[in-house]
Parts: sequence; C-alpha cells; structure tokens
Amino acid sequence: MKPQLLKRRTLKLALGTIALSLGFGTQAFAQAPIVIKFSHVVAKDTPKGKAAERFKELAEKATKGRVKVEIYPNSTLYKDKEELEALQLGAVQMLAPSLAKFGPLGVKEFEVFDVPYIFQSRDVLHRVTEGPIGAGLLAKLEPKGITGLAFWDNGFKVMSSNVPMHLPTDLKGKKMRIQSSKVLDAQMRALGANPQVMAFSEVYQALQTGVVDGTENPPSNLYTQKMHEVQKHVSVTNHGYLGYAVIVNKKFWDGLPADIRVALSDAMKGASRYANAIAQLENDAALDAVTKSGKTTVYTPTNKEIAAWMRAMVPVEKEMEGRIGKDLIMAINKESKALGFD
Ligand code: LMR
Repeated sequence: MKPQLLKRRTLKLALGTIALSLGFGTQAFAQAPIVIKFSHVVAKDTPKGKAAERFKELAEKATKGRVKVEIYPNSTLYKDKEELEALQLGAVQMLAPSLAKFGPLGVKEFEVFDVPYIFQSRDVLHRVTEGPIGAGLLAKLEPKGITGLAFWDNGFKVMSSNVPMHLPTDLKGKKMRIQSSKVLDAQMRALGANPQVMAFSEVYQALQTGVVDGTENPPSNLYTQKMHEVQKHVSVTNHGYLGYAVIVNKKFWDGLPADIRVALSDAMKGASRYANAIAQLENDAALDAVTKSGKTTVYTPTNKEIAAWMRAMVPVEKEMEGRIGKDLIMAINKESKALGFD
C-alpha cells in the first residue's frame, strides 16, 4: 500500500474513534430523541390526563420515536403557577392549564370562559374554541413566549360544600376555593361567598381541614381527587365551563425541524378530537360514581332554582366586561344566537 493511502486510512480510523468516543456516532446522533416534558395538575384518568396520554401515543408513532413525550400528571413536577413559569423558562415544553389560569400571565381575555352561564351548550363552546375567536385568543400568547396549539374540553362545573345548595343564598358567607381568575372571584362574591385562590394540588387537604368550606369543578376533577369524600353536598348547577389550552414553549416549537412540527400538529389534532369526544362521557361517569359512592349527597336543582342561580351570577358578565373586553363577550353571545340561543 502506498504510504500516502495508508496515512489517509489511519487518519480516517482515528477520526472515527474520536467521534464514537464522544458519542457522535452517526447512529447515536440520529437516534437521540427530542424530549417533550408535558406537565399537568390533574389525575391520569381525567379528560386531560387521558388526552395527554393519547397525544404521547400519536406523537411518538407519527415521529417514529424521534420525539419522546414524558407526562408528569397530578402536579408531580409543578403546581399551577409554577408550571407556567417553568414553561416560559423552558424547563418543560408542554402544558394544558385550565383557561382560568392565564390571568396572572397578563392574558386576561381567557377569563371569558369563566363567565357564568355564557355557554348554553357544548356546540356554542366549540364554535368559539374552533373558530376565529379561539385562534385570536391563542395568538395573544405569542408575545409571552408561548404558542397555543389547541383547546381541550373538560366540562361544566358543580358546586360542593358541607351544606345542601339548592339556592345561591346557601353559599352565603362560605369560603370557596377558586382558580386564579378574577371572573371566578366576582362570581363567588356575587353569591355572597368568600373566594380563596388556591393551587389545585392543595384543595383536597384544604377541604378536609376546613381551610375552605367548598369549591367548584367538573365532576371528573372532583371524583379523581376524592373531593367528594370530604364534602357532604354537591349541587349540579352547571354554572360555568372548565377547559384547557394546550400550550408549548414558543422557542422550542419554532426550533423543531419542520417535518417534526407537522407530525406533532397532526398528533395534537388527533388528541384534541379524542379529548373533546370523551370529556362529557367522563364527567357523566364521574358524577354517577360520586352519587353511587354514597359519601356525598348529589342534588340537581329544579328549573326554578337554576333560574335563581342564573339571576345571582349573570350580572358578573357586565361587571367583568372592562377586564375581559366587551367585544369578546359580544362575539361569544353572537355565536350563541347563531345556534338559536338568546
Ligand atoms: C383547577 O385548578 O380546579 C383545575 O383547573 C384543574 C385542572 O387542570 O383541571
């Protein structure tokens, strides 16, 4: 062999060894997955918990393992406020906070979803979340370093406490745990109750020890956190909606290879369809399980009583219009009218 050739081959071998020992072997490099840490605060067997699992499944399949989704449920990684900070700092890549938790981020308009009785049906809600109003709301997150990918349903809320709640006056003077939304604060005050903002992970203990007297949530959250075991009464008021925005760190999202971003967007579409298909069923099943548990009394107000709950809470819409925007409220009411509601 010519000395020239021998030299070249030795050099090539040496470079190969260095590359391998540094972990840059082509195979190792090609296989290092992109990790998406997805943190959330509810149980795995809730609409959000299940939809997150479905997203993981679809995303890992569509990217043939180039993306790995790690889910951290039940506040195991972060509580409500911390998780939004962690997302902005890039410590986690994906979240699905409730729409009532975007106020502290400076995006107050999301609190429109908390306005009592604003959505007369899930169809109205979906016209909002899947149409231009929803897209406009998600766009408001961009300057905060956050990209909004989708809306996921949970459901309509029930009230819980240790007293029977047939009428809104039954909650007078009660300390009620709420999420961080100012609209929810106004709603509880409209009932004569004292609202207390508290992280979701702390609610069970606060109810158990009497730090608060009651709370509101869709049945799926109430049941999976066992809140019904520490609340004597539940009233099916369906007075407000609780849903989620699935969000990612914008820098992370924009930095993904284009084909991966497309695959993940498709996976998100699939997970969202699934979330919105199971949400009502999960809540119905949870309410059934709460009733059957015998640990709490579940009451369904009569039409007359519901009218009284509405009379007490509907003024909140007007009161909060300065905070969330009159135009936004009007746009939602227009969607209701389009479906035949007043
Ligand atoms: C709550 O804090 O009550 C809910 O937002 C929890 C959740 O994410 O469903």
